[in-house]
Amino acid sequence: MRNTEHHYGWFTIGAHWLAAIMIIGLFGLGFWMVDLGYYDPWYKTGPDLHRSIGIILFVLMSIRLVWKLSQIQPKPLDHYTKFERVSSHLVHQLLYVLTFGIMLTGYLISTADGRGIDVFNLFQVPSLGELFADQEDIAGLIHEYAAYTLIGAVVLHALGAFKHHFIDKDITLKRMLGFRNTK
Ligand code: HEM
Ligand code: HEM
Repeated sequence: MRNTEHHYGWFTIGAHWLAAIMIIGLFGLGFWMVDLGYYDPWYKTGPDLHRSIGIILFVLMSIRLVWKLSQIQPKPLDHYTKFERVSSHLVHQLLYVLTFGIMLTGYLISTADGRGIDVFNLFQVPSLGELFADQEDIAGLIHEYAAYTLIGAVVLHALGAFKHHFIDKDITLKRMLGFRNTK
């Protein structure tokens, strides 16, 4: 379950891919739902689903971050260049910062009118009310631009992974998929 010097443990791997699917899904859903007309059956369901999945993602990302900070990280492979080490590290940090920023602004958009967030009708996340003027608009703008920036960073990140897999033919992608003892 835990990471070692050479491998990612299954918790890190599972959380990585689950979060990736949720983030890409939330981006698609968010992009699509904002243009729905008032009489569309998804007009209310789309945002409800988007907010509920968003809160679950927040729980997952928080656990994942605590997990990451509580143990060792697999070492970079020997042949990684200085540029690869620094840039991948920066992109990973950017992915975390943007994801948390988007989840926070999502909360601020949704709760600006004083209403809490119903998560799949199971529990409610309370509203803190309007914390600053024009909260819904300002948070909405940041949410939108940060979501586009995040997807740009994800594309870069995935291209990096594919470059390692198909050009360098190393285990970078394989070890995030759970393969072990592969050169
Ligand atoms: C990483 C996670 C998320 C991604 C990638 C994401 C992505 C998006 C995108 C692309 C839009 C459309 C922006 C636009 O064109 O105006 C959007 C809208 C929205 N998102 Fe998210 N979102 C995420 C998480 C959340 C969370 C956690 C919440 C609430 C708790 C939330 C609440 C909203 C709301 C209320 C809107 C509608 C804003 C409006 O009406 O302009 N989102 N999201
Ligand atoms: C929303 C999508 C994604 C996010 C937010 C994300 C985030 C991250 C982060 C933060 C790490 C660093 C390790 C950790 O903290 O867990 C990581 C590692 C990794 N990711 Fe992603 N990722 C996403 C999608 C993808 C995709 C689509 C691919 C491949 C096609 C991929 C391949 C990898 C690989 C191979 C590593 C290990 C890199 C290494 O060992 O240095 N990720 N990812």
